[in-house]
Amino acid sequence: MIENGKYSHGHKVAKLESALAAYTGARFVIGVNSGTDALVLLLRAAGLRPGDEVVVPAFSFIASASSVVLAGGRPVFADIEPDGYGIDPASVADVAGERTRFVMPVHLFSQLVDIDKVLDVAWRLGLTVVEDSAEAIGMRHRGTHAGLLGAGGVLSFFPTKTLGAIGDAGAVLTDDPRIADTVDALRHHGRFGRTIDNFPGISTETGLPGMNSKMDDIQAAVLLAKLTRLDADIARRAQLAAHYTELLTGVPGVRKLPAARPGGVFYVYVIEAEARDDLAAHLSAQGVQTEVYYPVPLHLQPCFRDLGHRSGDFPNAEAACRHTLALPLYPDMPAAAVEKVCGSIRDFYRGRP
Ligand SMILES: Cc1ncc(COP(=O)(O)O)c(C=O)c1O
Repeated sequence: MIENGKYSHGHKVAKLESALAAYTGARFVIGVNSGTDALVLLLRAAGLRPGDEVVVPAFSFIASASSVVLAGGRPVFADIEPDGYGIDPASVADVAGERTRFVMPVHLFSQLVDIDKVLDVAWRLGLTVVEDSAEAIGMRHRGTHAGLLGAGGVLSFFPTKTLGAIGDAGAVLTDDPRIADTVDALRHHGRFGRTIDNFPGISTETGLPGMNSKMDDIQAAVLLAKLTRLDADIARRAQLAAHYTELLTGVPGVRKLPAARPGGVFYVYVIEAEARDDLAAHLSAQGVQTEVYYPVPLHLQPCFRDLGHRSGDFPNAEAACRHTLALPLYPDMPAAAVEKVCGSIRDFYRGRP
């Protein structure tokens, strides 16, 4: 790769796309610069036009909603279900209006959204489903990989992801040749009167302005190497998660442990905890690094102020922001480290009134 001087959008990227297509079962995988770009390009390719509304859960990473704005649309927030982190289909039906054309379920942490219910409400309301499956590599619903349950989905290869690069990278997954062809064109400045090799026989003009969202070959090379041990890494993550669950069950102050739904992958191990911020500070003082993924719900983010939301609008999302805490989880983690974290959590709650 370095010898042939093709550092971006070269052979390694094409090879990674094929390997990911084989891994996920997607008909098309299109490598891009990040998971965020993948969402923007997917929305545009799936037909989002200026002013179209997309229903997005109020509890997610900011890119789930900012990608809608960057694609020219308008996010409309919905609450999440009380006993999981997936978008609540009843809330989707409540907030969808005349201009709503899409719904974006987000598969967070270690579980798939209850997708059958989301597909059902989308069908009733005539909405296209685009999945934010950025965290969901390896997650499958009855054998179908996340991202392929609606019109298309994305993957993020940010370094901390289950399959992480050594910088930014992402991909769009879809079975739809028109979406694939449009993303392929838009990631590389649109298509100005020429066809691109990846999809011979498909040579439509998109008529849309493109961008530079090509994937670097160095990232593709790293991801290709790491893909060979992805399933082993996922199995190790599941073992460590089971160990956490065993040690944390019944600990007072730990309100909720992640439910092991079929088809999930432990990208992170997220608990819900009383006095969450004090617990995080206590663990940090013991040398245990934790993460509060989404401390502020999307509807209360300053960049969405003009949507006019207030605290209390989406109570389940707000409660998740107050209580969730991701504990350390990585495939090389020794079992003794899990035991240390759980011991520190028990000590913290033992010392409280
Ligand atoms: C749910 C979700 N959506 C979107 C993204 C954006 O991906 P990236 O960081 O690769 O742009 C991420 C990852 O950071 C994510 O976790």
